Amino acid sequence: MNPADATVDIQDEAALQLDGDGNLRHLLTLNGLDRNLLIDILDDAESYLTEPGSLPARSDLLAGRTVANLFFEPSTRTRASFDLAGKRLGADVLNLDVNTSSRKKGESILDTIYTLQAMHVDVMVVRDASAGVPASIARHVQDHISILNAGEAEVSHPTQGLLDLLTIRQHKQNFSDLTVAIIGDIRHSRVAMSAAHGLATLDVGELRLVSPAMLAPDPDSVPGAVITDSLQEGLDGADVVMALRIQRERIGNLDGVPTIDEYFANYGINQEHLKLAALDAIVMHPGPMNRGIEIEGVVADGQQSVITQQVTNGVAVRMAVLERVGRLMAKR
Ligand code: CP
Repeated sequence: MNPADATVDIQDEAALQLDGDGNLRHLLTLNGLDRNLLIDILDDAESYLTEPGSLPARSDLLAGRTVANLFFEPSTRTRASFDLAGKRLGADVLNLDVNTSSRKKGESILDTIYTLQAMHVDVMVVRDASAGVPASIARHVQDHISILNAGEAEVSHPTQGLLDLLTIRQHKQNFSDLTVAIIGDIRHSRVAMSAAHGLATLDVGELRLVSPAMLAPDPDSVPGAVITDSLQEGLDGADVVMALRIQRERIGNLDGVPTIDEYFANYGINQEHLKLAALDAIVMHPGPMNRGIEIEGVVADGQQSVITQQVTNGVAVRMAVLERVGRLMAKR
């Protein structure tokens, strides 16, 4: 697939992920996803959470189905959690090793997809560095197949957005009373984009996006958000503090990007900086974390950190999404 052919209108993409009755068939973006559907997914995810130390929730809802993980970019959390989520719902899970796959011999993504489709794969979980790839695949697969976006360039990471919303909801009562501060390389962050879309849908009180000017987002991509290069302004009284890493792999020219020491001093979430936020603020990070750059180790491991809870919620959210598309398959 030529990535240039993969560009899609965002409204078109939001519509593409639903069937004619408004059911979720693909998960491509949180932008435009209906509020009730979003809340239903969070509620379903909650039902998959069990006490630490107890056995994880399981069902056979996807027994006989096959889920393929196609990660054309590195991943630890998303890939492992989709793998576990599929298995805990009874599916066969195929983790394609992209480094030893025939893509290395020049096979296109679409030919890889058609190959897996011919093997009766039902759900394809796709991460790719090019914008528009998940939606483009969704347009090309047969009607019974679901495509789940597991991270699309700097555009979208919808299951990460869902797990972030679930984690916030577990600690805070009402989104409309909340000030959420996301600090880091917002410009290149699909995590920030999906969080912004989900938070807007849930009517968050205030979203602040904090970064050095060269890593700030296009304001049109996050309508309503406060964009600032001042960490003090961003953190002041915030209820939720989310740190993001600098995505050097997406920055063509690194001239002007702060050094590690500059960044940590001015934007790192350390104990001193955290005092600017609300006393009961929670600290989040999607991972992978760079301790001593965007977050101090003692903060990442501290009382206010919910970072491991985000990881736990990641499995539950992915089970909820797989359940939803699986139920739709069962109806056909
Ligand atoms: N948060 C996230 O997407 O992590 P991975 O890159 O490890 O999947």
